[in-house]
Amino acid sequence: MKNKPRIRVDFNNMMAASIGAHGITEEEIAGHMAQAEAAAKALAEKRPQMKWRELPHNQAKIVEKIRKTAEYVRANYDAFVVLGIGGSALGPIAVHQALNHLHYNELPDSKRNGPRLYVEDNVDPERLAALLDVIDIKRTAFNVITKSGSTSETMAQLLAVFDLLKSACGGDYAARIIATTDEKKGNLIKIAQEYGLTTFFVPDGVGGRFSELCPVGLLAAAVCGIDIAELLAGAAFMDDLCGEKDIRKNAAYMAALLQYISMKRGKNISVMMPYADSLKYMADWYAQLWAESLGKRYGLSGGEVFTGQTPVKALGVTDQHSQVQLYVEGPFDKVVTFLGVDEYRSEYVIPGGFGHIPDVSFLSGHTLNELIKTEQAATEYALMKAGRPSFTVTLPSVTAFTVGELLYFFEVMTAFAGELLCINAFDQPGVEGGKQATYALLGKPGFDEKRAELKAAPEKDPKYIVG
Ligand code: PA5
Repeated sequence: MKNKPRIRVDFNNMMAASIGAHGITEEEIAGHMAQAEAAAKALAEKRPQMKWRELPHNQAKIVEKIRKTAEYVRANYDAFVVLGIGGSALGPIAVHQALNHLHYNELPDSKRNGPRLYVEDNVDPERLAALLDVIDIKRTAFNVITKSGSTSETMAQLLAVFDLLKSACGGDYAARIIATTDEKKGNLIKIAQEYGLTTFFVPDGVGGRFSELCPVGLLAAAVCGIDIAELLAGAAFMDDLCGEKDIRKNAAYMAALLQYISMKRGKNISVMMPYADSLKYMADWYAQLWAESLGKRYGLSGGEVFTGQTPVKALGVTDQHSQVQLYVEGPFDKVVTFLGVDEYRSEYVIPGGFGHIPDVSFLSGHTLNELIKTEQAATEYALMKAGRPSFTVTLPSVTAFTVGELLYFFEVMTAFAGELLCINAFDQPGVEGGKQATYALLGKPGFDEKRAELKAAPEKDPKYIVG
């Protein structure tokens, strides 16, 4: 285990010793240790139901099938379009941003590691029109992803794509669509079987937001030439590390515990601030994971608890010039998670010039690498001085291995936080509510009762509508 690139987590600025009154004391940690140990035990007992925990270990055959399919797509298409939403899109987007060239789609074919990739996770009609302007539909493969096989947004996209492909490509149009869904439940599997689509499965017991390391994320990654075996190896390495029994040495458990104590002290906002463009969309992926998993009305014992911490996405250094003022001087309601990188994949030395203006020329000879890292350290320091809790997760460099580690780290941290909060971190009844209302309003059969309920809702008062 020693020689593998390992992410490290620095909790100093969560502690009262660093930040004062809004920090956590040693005594508080000690006071929560019995609860943390019980949560660790409960999580270990639940492991057989948490099938996402096995994804790094049990997919050798699937990886082979994904690689073959990816090879076929790479050889035959110019663009690969993922249709999905929520957990069926945010992971693919985050990994694409982390591991592909930052302007991947704009690279010439000779420099790109696969077809152009688009992840379409909205039903804005302008977005579909814009997509059709930049792809040649005859040279495009589609991957429709929906675990439930019934999400309205994704099914609407699928209807559009079936129709477009049928008109453009005729007979063999269905060969251009790959389905990723539940093996038994939902409508997509029925459609896939009827039309003979190439199909991958989201394993039972793997919820949307915990599904990046199954075919949901692996296929798009492999199509772009990302080493998916390395992604899984990194996750497996983190799984080993998360087996550490001593809570204080288990980074994922400690992160969850310190967040939990902070939540109890009114820190209701979790800011994720990567200092790397490559990790920018990790913040989006984390936002869903943390929000949907922990934002719950009911606890495991059935009583109302109204838990959760609102995730906020920020990007270093960009958002230093937009949000950090609030973080340093606003309400004491946040925990900031910095994501840092030791070695960026490029280096740029700032050239000389403007020697007559020392306030500018002092930058010459430094690297952009130094600048971004110094600004991260400076922001950590400013928050610390202002008594604001933060912790820092650092990747040695952004590789398939460390990204696999990072994804698995946050998944385990989230599951452990759910245990500490005594809630079910793996359901999303609040999302289901919105889905049901949409079905009812758009006339889906079987939703008459819901439709009647919505019709009976009080009319809007025009006096509160201006314009
Ligand atoms: O985490 C979840 O389960 C959800 O956010 C889903 O990912 C999202 O609602 C999309 O669902 P599906 O993959 O079933 O289309």
